[in-house]
Amino acid sequence: MAKLLIHGGRKLSGELQITAAKNAYLPILAACVLCEEKIVLHNYPHYCDTESMCKILTSLGANIIQEGSDLEIDPSALFSWGVESELACQVRSSIFMLGALLGRFKKARVAYPGGCEIGARPIDIHLAGFRKLGVKVEEKHGFIQCDASNMHSATILLDFPSVGATESLMMASVLTSGTTRILNAAKEPEIVDLENFLVKMGAKVRGAGTGEVVIEGVKKLKGCEYDPIKDRIIAGTYLIATLMCGGDVTLKGVKGEHLGALIDKLGQTACNIECKNDKIRVKAEGRMAALGKIETSVYPGLPTDLQAQILALQTISDGSSMICENVFESRFKHVPELIKMGADIHVKDRVAFVRGVKKLYGASVTGMELRGTASLVLAGLVAEGYTTVSGVRHIDRGYSAIESELSSLGADIRRVKD
Ligand code: UD1
Repeated sequence: MAKLLIHGGRKLSGELQITAAKNAYLPILAACVLCEEKIVLHNYPHYCDTESMCKILTSLGANIIQEGSDLEIDPSALFSWGVESELACQVRSSIFMLGALLGRFKKARVAYPGGCEIGARPIDIHLAGFRKLGVKVEEKHGFIQCDASNMHSATILLDFPSVGATESLMMASVLTSGTTRILNAAKEPEIVDLENFLVKMGAKVRGAGTGEVVIEGVKKLKGCEYDPIKDRIIAGTYLIATLMCGGDVTLKGVKGEHLGALIDKLGQTACNIECKNDKIRVKAEGRMAALGKIETSVYPGLPTDLQAQILALQTISDGSSMICENVFESRFKHVPELIKMGADIHVKDRVAFVRGVKKLYGASVTGMELRGTASLVLAGLVAEGYTTVSGVRHIDRGYSAIESELSSLGADIRRVKD
């Protein structure tokens, strides 16, 4: 088992090219099975979650070759419409295979994506949407089995603008004749990216990025090349790291507007962030003022995937803040570990009350989930002395070699064996 060993106290400086977005790549990989021709995806990122998704596609019969940073996916010889539990439990996005396989085969059998570390993650909105499309859905023995032989277009009103459900329903309906409308759709940039990819394959989809996505079914999709967007959450993590450590860092490849809520919130303090031509430059010096009330919400609000990192920043800010987690029910597992490092935090239900301290101190801490583990790394970068972060497998799900990226900016961080 690997750990990250961090010697805190270094400033960060330099430029970093941000890698492709995990949350864009995962639904796009799933959507590849909708087509029977070769697809080339550029700038493939080596996250454990994208690797797990590739294993799922291979298990269904897709042929996948990596050529440099390109991933060539040939889904023409797919022979299976089922995902077994050993594979489904490795990545929650295995749930996307339901919509994609329904589009391709009009039937699908996918094991439950498995337990999750940030609270209950029901899939009722995905399944209600499929039922609205005329799909017969049965849940038994740990599997979701769907028969779409009578699938038809429909108008679907989502109970909540779920990112995953919006994407599942887009995939399920692109090859279904008639016009399907998804109302109260999620508006995240990754949904726009999925629409762009589907359109490149010949699908007729419009409206992504607004609350209404409209899909006009087509008979067939064709192969294409596509370059998914870069990861706004990774960029946000390094932006916050720079604010914590001080320095001057330019993050390349991410649009400032994709981090608009974070940048606006930070703009209430005296920090210096410039966004131009898909580059974000952040300059920081000294202790930041606390941000006061911070609330996560759906896009374009402050992403829940940056809550843990923002919380880490607040632990050393000047003043008090209050962080409300409005999207997931149990997303403060990093808090006891930050307290071990000297942070002053109290959690009540979905709200964390933080009183900024002047200093954090190195400690042995353990990450329990992806973004929470990233927050411990950020705390380690600024803490006095050495910090070891265990649970690195969580961070590897969505960052490719975080230690190399941070080292390239001047941090003292390396991966060590237990
Ligand atoms: C996606 C992201 C994840 C991010 C989240 C919210 C991917 C691969 N993952 O997850 O990183 O944290 O969006 O921005 O893109 N819900 C239901 N029933 C459902 C579906 C969702 O009750 O059928 C609830 C969830 O429990 C949660 C909320 O809706 O409380 C948001 O979930 P959703 O937007 O679906 O997140 P994911 O797609 O799972």
